[in-house]
Amino acid sequence: MRKIIVAGNWKMNHNYDQAKGFVEDLLPQLKEVKSDRVEIMIAPTFVFVQNLIELAEGSQLQIGAQDVSSHEIGAFTGEVSAQMLASINANFVIIGHSERREYHHESDRLIKEKLIKLLDHKIRPIVCIGETLDQREDAITQDVILTQLKGCFAGIDLADNPQVVIAYEPVWAIGTGKTATPEMAEEVHAMIRDWLTSEYGSETAEAIHILYGGSMKADNIEALVSQPNIDGGLIGGASLKVVSYLEMIKIASKI
Ligand code: PGA
Repeated sequence: MRKIIVAGNWKMNHNYDQAKGFVEDLLPQLKEVKSDRVEIMIAPTFVFVQNLIELAEGSQLQIGAQDVSSHEIGAFTGEVSAQMLASINANFVIIGHSERREYHHESDRLIKEKLIKLLDHKIRPIVCIGETLDQREDAITQDVILTQLKGCFAGIDLADNPQVVIAYEPVWAIGTGKTATPEMAEEVHAMIRDWLTSEYGSETAEAIHILYGGSMKADNIEALVSQPNIDGGLIGGASLKVVSYLEMIKIASKI
């Protein structure tokens, strides 16, 4: 059975003292959480990934990054490679977040190149997809999601890589306080699972985690994650405070 993933995406928040204080406060409280039910992840800024990995060592908290370069090595000023992240034992990397697609013009093709680098270096990818409000209102959500899935995964054998995580994040729900209803989210998640089944077979499709993201918080996580194809959340705002993040972890661990 798939464990529920509770993944915090801190985006460009928290200075070092805040990030360290968060983890120091969280870790002892995680001892009460059953690790056979949930996977707990946080993606801080690149700058703190290594320190937080060291702090979290021996605990069930996994630390990863929010992006990675599509290049292997060389003259790419400001970039961080998969090889570098692997060398500090980063557990996972988020790629294709809608904020990167929008502000940095990332395409599905580029996201696939990043995915290949992560797989080469044995780092677990969390691949984000999702439609904008205009696309939902134009009733083309399904086409948009299928295009993103094909663009990000064409030619990649997920049967060999069932650790890959997909995060469905409707862009209109991110940071807006507007959450997709559990039924709306489940409809897209079920479609993603069907696509995975048709491409890779049911064993692989059943193994892959599909997370929901977009204003997930303690008072809606249970209804969302109780849906058959929603395997956890990628959480921005509500992951920034220990109290709300821990509450979500505890709720998820009891589902
Ligand atoms: P949010 O962000 O929970 O603040 O809406 C989610 C995300 O962008 O991953």
